[in-house]
Formats: sequence, C-alpha cells, structure tokens
Amino acid sequence: MKGDIDYAKLVKQFGTELIDAKLLARFEKHSGELHYLLKRGIYFSHRDMNFVFDEYDKGNPFYLYNGRGPSGHTHIGHLTQFIFTKWMQDKFQCPYYFQLTDDEKFLFNFDLDLEQARFYGRENALDLIATGFDPKKTHIIMDSYHARTIYPLAIQVAKRITFSTAKAVFGFTNSTNIGSIFFTSFQAVPAFLHSVRKGRNVPCVIPLAIDQDAHFRVARDVLPKLGFLKPGILHSRFLPGLQQGGKMSASDPESALYTVDEPKVIKKKLQNAFTGGRGNAAEQRKLGGQPEICSIFANYQLILIPQQDKLDALEKRCRSGDMLCGECKNICIELATKFLTEHQAKREKARDVFDEFLLKEEDITIE
Ligand code: TRP
Repeated sequence: MKGDIDYAKLVKQFGTELIDAKLLARFEKHSGELHYLLKRGIYFSHRDMNFVFDEYDKGNPFYLYNGRGPSGHTHIGHLTQFIFTKWMQDKFQCPYYFQLTDDEKFLFNFDLDLEQARFYGRENALDLIATGFDPKKTHIIMDSYHARTIYPLAIQVAKRITFSTAKAVFGFTNSTNIGSIFFTSFQAVPAFLHSVRKGRNVPCVIPLAIDQDAHFRVARDVLPKLGFLKPGILHSRFLPGLQQGGKMSASDPESALYTVDEPKVIKKKLQNAFTGGRGNAAEQRKLGGQPEICSIFANYQLILIPQQDKLDALEKRCRSGDMLCGECKNICIELATKFLTEHQAKREKARDVFDEFLLKEEDITIE
C-alpha cells in the first residue's frame, strides 16, 4: 500500500495531522471496535477530529458528508469509502449527505455530456445504496438536480473565494472555463447544509481520499466567515491500481475492479494484475513474494479480506515463498467474484428505492 507516495511529506505540506493511537482510542471508545480500514492505516490522516469528538462527548453529535464525481462506473476504491462511511453511520448514528457532482464531471471533462454524468450519478448511487445505508438518515444530492437548494448557499461561499485563491489551489489558468472555477463552491455546501437545515451548528465529518482535501482547505477558510464550523476531515491513502505503479482511476477500466464487472472480466483483470512476485518460481520459493507492492494484496487489504487473521495467514504464506502468485490470484478471483456477485444483486434491488434516498428539498417561496 505504500507505493511511491511520501505520506509524511503530504501531511507536512498540507498541515494535516496523522491519525495516532490516541485518536484511534477515541473512535474505539464510541464504536466498540475499530474498522479494518482504520486499523490498517488506509485512513491515515485528519483535520480537527479531536474537536469533533470533544463536541460529541458534550452531546453535540456530528453528521457525515462525502461524494463522488460520476464520470464512470464505481470501482473498488470508491466502494471502500462507502463501506467506511456506512460503518461510521452505524456506529455514530449519523445523518449522511452524499453529493454526486454531475456538474463537476461535465465541466472538467470535455468529452462528457451532462446526461452521461447524470446517468453515472444514478448508477453510482446504486452502489452506495447497495452498501446498506439507512434511507431515513441518508440524503443523496445530485448537483444539477438539487440546484434550487444548493445554489443560494454556493454563492455565499463563492463570494468569499477570489480567483487568485482558486488559481493557487487548483492550478487554473486563463483558459479554464468559468464553470470549473466556480465549482468548488458547490462542493463546499454539504459541509454546512445540515446546519442550515437544522438552524444550528452541527459538526460535520468528511471521509475522503486525500486528493479531495484541496476543496476543503478552501471551504474551511470560508465557512467560519459565514458563521459555520470548519468540517472535520478523515483522509484515506491513494489506492493502488491493478497495474504497476498506477492508481485506481474511474476513467481507466483496466486499472481496477468495477462493481459492474462480470465474472469473466474479473478473472481477466486479476490474471493480468501486477503482483509482488519474482522472476521465476524457483526464485520466489526462495525469496518469497512482496505483498507491499502487490495489487492483489491491496485488493485483499481494502475490501476482500476484512478479517485480520485470514489476511495475516495469506501474507505469511506469500512472504515465505510457500504460495506463488498463480494460487493467490485464484483465491482473489474467487473472493472478488463472490463479493461482486452479491453486491450486484443488492445493486439491482437498489433501483426500486433510489428515489427514497434523494434529498428532499424544502418548499422555497420568494418573499
Ligand atoms: N469531487 C469529488 C470527485 O471528483 C466528488 C465529491 C463531492 C466529494 N463532494 C465530496 C468527494 C466530498 C469527497 C468528499 O470524486
């Protein structure tokens, strides 16, 4: 899972804090157990989570927010975010806002039209619902659809972000389209929307992949100026893809398992996946494999093997040279096929309840 990324440097550069044993103990105190993604350090860094727990301890519980840019189908990496967020919802009984940024993907991706982005938004939402979120506590926002609710709040944010800040944070240039420049103000809104709806400040926690932190560096500066709290953030690592050195990417179907993949696709992708194996069998028996660089092992860690003892046993067999990559890939194919087949059944059922999960907009009148 380490890849080439220097996480200590990231933490320093962006001024976040590592999730340490003390903070893990605070999770554990309330949840009774630690989620495997916390234990394994996949969520590794944070902002203001001690403040969030202080408030929680005082009887001011938080809500959850994150989202997904619908440029394609959901891959396993996105699913880990859903799985972790659902665990948080269960353990802390949180309301949860999930934002589908069809506008973002349309604006930033020249080849994608709005209908396609909305289509994928709906498809991605099925994966979210299939993960088991509570319909009473979960509110899905589709940006272009819920604009009536989001827009009046987004312009409050937008008014306090200069072009020079947006350029510095996101690298915009004079040829960037103006929709893209405005977009971050939309992503900021769900970080205080629940407070607006409740009429009081409710702390917010945003579990996200570290590359999304930029939006919230900006939002965290603006929100206090509007009278809202800065959201707490939980950062996850970049998730390695199935090829050497790459990360999972929504625009490259070969880079990861997708939730819609059929058994024969799963098999082919995993058979072609990059591993930590050696040049030949004899060498591997002697030296053992290298799970730390292996994409198959990453899939075990992230999603397919939550049970620590089971993962440890496989790791031991790999490192000792007892198990070679062929055998291990077959294990992975079996686990992935089972997992995804079950997920796909739930995903189809989710079509019937999609509407129940959409954020209900307040009646707005013009006075
Ligand atoms: N911009 C994100 C993406 O491209 C989607 C998103 C919207 C998001 N709101 C979020 C991600 C909050 C994490 C947290 O995928």
